[in-house]
Amino acid sequence: MAEENDYFCERNNKKRFFETGIKRKYINFVPQKKLKNMTDIERIDSLREELHLHNYKYYILNSPEISDMEFDRMMRELQELEKKHPEHFDKTSPTIRVGSDINKNFIQVVHKYPMLSLANTYSETDVTDFYERIRKGLEGEDFEVCCEMKYDGTSISLTYEHGKLIRAVTRGDGEKGDDVTDNVKTIRSIPLILHGNDYPDNFEIRGEILMPWTVFEELNKEREKNEEPLFANPRNAASGTLKLQNSAIVASRKLDAYLYYLLGENLPNDGHYENLKQAEQWGFKVSNIMRKCKTLQEIFDFINYWNTERKNLPVATDGIVLKINSLRQQRSLGLTAKSPRWAIAYKFQAERALTRLNSISYQVGRTGAITPVANLDPIQLSGTIVKRASLHNADIIEGLDLHIGDMVYVEKGGEIIPKITGVDKDARILIGEKIKFITHCPECGSKLIRYEGEAAHYCPNETACPPQIKGKIEHFISRRAMNIDGLGPETVDQFYQEGFIKNTADLYKLEASQISKLERMGNKSAENIIRGIENSKNIPFERVLFALGIRFVGETVAKKLARAFKNMDNLEQATLDDLIHVDEIGEKIARSIILYFTDEENKKLVYRLKEAGLTMQLSQEDLQGQTDKLQGKSIVISGVFSHHSRDEYKALIEQNGGKNVGSISAKTSFILAGNNMGPSKLEKAQKLGIKIMNEDEFLTLIE
Ligand code: IVH
Repeated sequence: MAEENDYFCERNNKKRFFETGIKRKYINFVPQKKLKNMTDIERIDSLREELHLHNYKYYILNSPEISDMEFDRMMRELQELEKKHPEHFDKTSPTIRVGSDINKNFIQVVHKYPMLSLANTYSETDVTDFYERIRKGLEGEDFEVCCEMKYDGTSISLTYEHGKLIRAVTRGDGEKGDDVTDNVKTIRSIPLILHGNDYPDNFEIRGEILMPWTVFEELNKEREKNEEPLFANPRNAASGTLKLQNSAIVASRKLDAYLYYLLGENLPNDGHYENLKQAEQWGFKVSNIMRKCKTLQEIFDFINYWNTERKNLPVATDGIVLKINSLRQQRSLGLTAKSPRWAIAYKFQAERALTRLNSISYQVGRTGAITPVANLDPIQLSGTIVKRASLHNADIIEGLDLHIGDMVYVEKGGEIIPKITGVDKDARILIGEKIKFITHCPECGSKLIRYEGEAAHYCPNETACPPQIKGKIEHFISRRAMNIDGLGPETVDQFYQEGFIKNTADLYKLEASQISKLERMGNKSAENIIRGIENSKNIPFERVLFALGIRFVGETVAKKLARAFKNMDNLEQATLDDLIHVDEIGEKIARSIILYFTDEENKKLVYRLKEAGLTMQLSQEDLQGQTDKLQGKSIVISGVFSHHSRDEYKALIEQNGGKNVGSISAKTSFILAGNNMGPSKLEKAQKLGIKIMNEDEFLTLIE
């Protein structure tokens, strides 16, 4: 395994992951002082907003920014507050939903049986309470509890008809999920045809798709080599893989699956355990870590044993699931809206270690964002030696009330990079100096600034602060941007030190004769570099746009901008209003683009890149098929479609000059409605008198 310290290594590109992977973490962190002044209602609103955001990051972006434990804690706090204030009920509160992982590229399928989640706890007392509640609920009847591992991957529902796999659907929002059958079929441990002949004609089996640790580590190594963003954990890697459009890549990722829940009308046994054992005979991979327990003592023995032993398992687990074994008893205990009453998940505490905080270093990223990093006494944690931990921003340092020499708790949450989660204040004998966030850039000395609403401090000296200059050039040449062969962070550093380059446009002035004179550079490598630079002139416009490194303009945004404005001149001249009108471009991104092009230095740079011959407009091919038929129209997409996927409709709207918006307002031009349009949306549309168009009408309109 890699040492955590690697992730802070300046000289290689791992630092890039550090910046992009967790930089904006804790953006919604509410400092303790503010929390105290909040009313319950304000706190409910703030928790709802935060949980919605984290749900989105977890389920849609596959990029969680807080640990499961923290998420669960916030969810519990919200549940408590909502109970106290029923008058502040909201049917869209995160406490009602099970979460959503719906990716619009897949066809959505309604689950025959909703995919509920499990009640979670980290406390042994809750396990005892659960056991007692069951005893009371079953009115003294004997019962057995089936204890299993809680596998930490992504859940899947498989439907079998006459012994054949016919459909695989993700959990989605619990009601409907994405049809990922083609991808699931590539997973070797999932049987396509069952063994024997005693299986029901029609049944569903649910389980967890997992990426084994070894595969995960290998995949991240490969991604690092290719300068692709790393996956934070095997769970994200598994769910990200399952949503890939190319099932051949899915196949290469060597996913695995454990099945743990059988549903249907004619199941062979009344026992959940017995049914799973039978399913194993039909060819399903069922975990052999399952035990039927009668007493609380047996349950705790299982929990305690696997709490340590799980570290030797090939896949990630995050707790133990307890299920009442008899299906008849399960039915009599029933369900709540979110989870069954007959099951509970006991989650393991994240592993943590106590060590000394020696100092803080501050790193400057390519955007000028300052990241504080804690330097620690080296300590062993989940198989790796931790020497450094991220502190994210000034609010976190303030919230922890950190002093030099403090004994701090280090935890590995869902992320690879460890973080400091607390201070052992009792261990403070001599209090060291309180940590004050720096006021000036450690690299160039400029006074730091903090943008409104942002947690990070920034060095504003974009054009003369060395790590920013080098970072921007490194981003510019990276594989997903200009993909300049032969150049890497070390060469950039060398060229910068030699005074050959101060910005990206200088790359196009380099000459082979000049490069070949440098240490460790022969004629061949020099020519290679020049050829790579020359070839980059053919890189399409949207990637040039991405390569500029404008704040908040990632690959997707760059694509949208390129399609909407068609060339650099149009984009440079775009007003805030023009920009906001583009699908998925909000005010924050729009302002950042305006700011970029108001800076004379940036304008000069773009001019020089243009002069150097880079592609500054969409190709003829891209321009073809674009129309203005929906120019100025704001369109809401709702419901389930049969001719095209939602994403395809979104693309069609954009191709025809329209804007796809998420929610209905008076400004909405019309609603493109499929089947099962949500009743609240329908009501709102009718109230505002907004036209509802079906698929066929829409396709005729743009034909
Ligand atoms: S049973 C109604 N068994 O945990 C309960 N779930 O928080 C159905 N999970 O979405 C689930 N291991 O993805 C069950 N042995 C196990 C599990 C398990 C992991 C996941 C599953 C579910 C989530 C609930």
